[in-house]
Amino acid sequence: MTPTLRPSPGAPGARVLGWGSSQPQRVVTNDELAERVATNDNWIRERVGIVSRRIADPETPLVEIAADAGSKAVADAGLSPTDVDSIIVATCTMPNPIPNAAAQVGTRIGLAAPGAFDINTACAGFCYGLGIASDLVRAGSSRHVLVIGAEKLSHWLDWDDRATCIIFADGAGAAVVGPAPTTDDAGIGPLVWGSDGSQYPLIRILGEPGESGLLHQEGQAVFRWATTQVAPIALRAIERAGLAPEDIDVFIPHQANLRIIDAVTKRLRKEGAREDMRVAQDIVHSGNTSSASIPLAIDHMRAAGQISRGDVMLLVGFGAGLSYAGQVVICP
Ligand code: UT7
Repeated sequence: MTPTLRPSPGAPGARVLGWGSSQPQRVVTNDELAERVATNDNWIRERVGIVSRRIADPETPLVEIAADAGSKAVADAGLSPTDVDSIIVATCTMPNPIPNAAAQVGTRIGLAAPGAFDINTACAGFCYGLGIASDLVRAGSSRHVLVIGAEKLSHWLDWDDRATCIIFADGAGAAVVGPAPTTDDAGIGPLVWGSDGSQYPLIRILGEPGESGLLHQEGQAVFRWATTQVAPIALRAIERAGLAPEDIDVFIPHQANLRIIDAVTKRLRKEGAREDMRVAQDIVHSGNTSSASIPLAIDHMRAAGQISRGDVMLLVGFGAGLSYAGQVVICP
């Protein structure tokens, strides 16, 4: 007779327990970039919204920035590293595909033999990771999951291409996901996710195997896609959580371009989001850090007192793939 397998005892719900972030020390201004490529401070501020960004030293590995953010999130959750049994690193900028980032980052932080894997959905990566972490906790596969979005885009940039080198930057942001005692205490709403692989050429690293490729982006086409498609994804995430647009206290979209953020916010307000809904604008001093941009923005807004415990936050990531994901999260 086929035996019945014992299921893992899952948690009634999952919630975020702590946040952390890390950025390189070096601030790169628009004027500094204008010394290298034909651009200027005014164009970058007006067309993208960036004033400065952080760029890592070439010898600083991505896993070091990721581990710094992860350690802070574990401490913020009030846990010790050995309480964390799995780690997910969302990244699209590891210098080599093998080994992954997660196992190294886990060792640097002091996690004890965690389940460790990377996900690559570019700028949607953190929201994918948060959704997967919530499911792992609810299914009983993990008790505490560390989710980190970490990028060292500077490694893959063509520093002579003014269309991309002024946009992208380095950094990491992290969250610890753990069990909620009851379904009423759950703090991570259903994940709305998807992709459109037919549009893969719009953002990619071009290069043959063995060559070091460089990041290429068809900016206008991605801009058009983002300004039309991101708001419906965000509205679906609100609806799947059983909420209405007016329930959202803080909107944290991927920090790709201030004009995209403004266009999506305008659309959400048209659908009922409040005028006093706070909107992340971390791109101004952090640039576009792909999978790190959402948790970086959250951690900076928390430190600035712009997000507090119990706030209803709407997250939505989008980018290369093309890939997208969003969910509603209650701030711990
Ligand atoms: O994170 C992943 C998802 N990514 C995104 O969501 C990015 C979406 N796209 C964008 O944010 C924008 O398309 C960019 C910021 C990438 C570009 O802004 P744009 O307003 O779409 O500029 P454009 O590509 O239409 O270029 C307009 C003009 C061009 O000159 P001409 O042909 O009109 O003479 C460009 O050559 O601006 C020129 N240009 C620049 N000028 C000064 C392009 N880059 C620069 C620059 N400085 N850095």
